[in-house]
Amino acid sequence: MSPNRRQAILGILAGAAASPLAGQVAKGQGLPDALMPTPSCGDNDEPTVAQTEGPYFTPNSPLKQDFTGDGATGKRLMIGGLVLDTACNPIPAAMIELWHADAAGSYDNKGSRYRGHSLSDEQGRWWFATIVPGLYPGRTRHYHLKVQRPRGEMLTTQLYFPGEPQNERDRIFDDRLLLRLEPAGGERYGLYSFVLA
Ligand SMILES: [Fe+2]
Repeated sequence: MSPNRRQAILGILAGAAASPLAGQVAKGQGLPDALMPTPSCGDNDEPTVAQTEGPYFTPNSPLKQDFTGDGATGKRLMIGGLVLDTACNPIPAAMIELWHADAAGSYDNKGSRYRGHSLSDEQGRWWFATIVPGLYPGRTRHYHLKVQRPRGEMLTTQLYFPGEPQNERDRIFDDRLLLRLEPAGGERYGLYSFVLA
């Protein structure tokens, strides 16, 4: 995504975050509409960078967008955004898979705690209600994701948190994969839009 395009989207998101959104948040029905711009642009945007899958991916995750019942601890965070093509067109029915560590930094390698997948909606929007993952040795704080447009190639990547002290010491960290954290309605949102080739 070009810097100009990214700034345009982030500017819209930042302005929208001041809206009163508590009602929508309480329902847990995805990201508030006000945080979800409809993109339009004519330039060619760079596809989201791929990253290693890591050792903790397991296949056959459940269809699940709400992970908040998966554990008793952890700071809640809703993450979401858009799935776009390189011309900034939203991609509906893209598969988005999320897996991450629990609040203590452990992965559930036998079950499906903090593992699930969903499809982007007709406007290309994706979201998960989950927690901030805990740290584990050797890595900064991160989510793992796979994103695939219908009949398209699978993108495997990770998303990161701004301001994490470990970011600079993490060899995999890439600042093109930073979530943008936005407060709204007493909740916190981590926003990211994927661009698929
Ligand atoms: Fe990991």
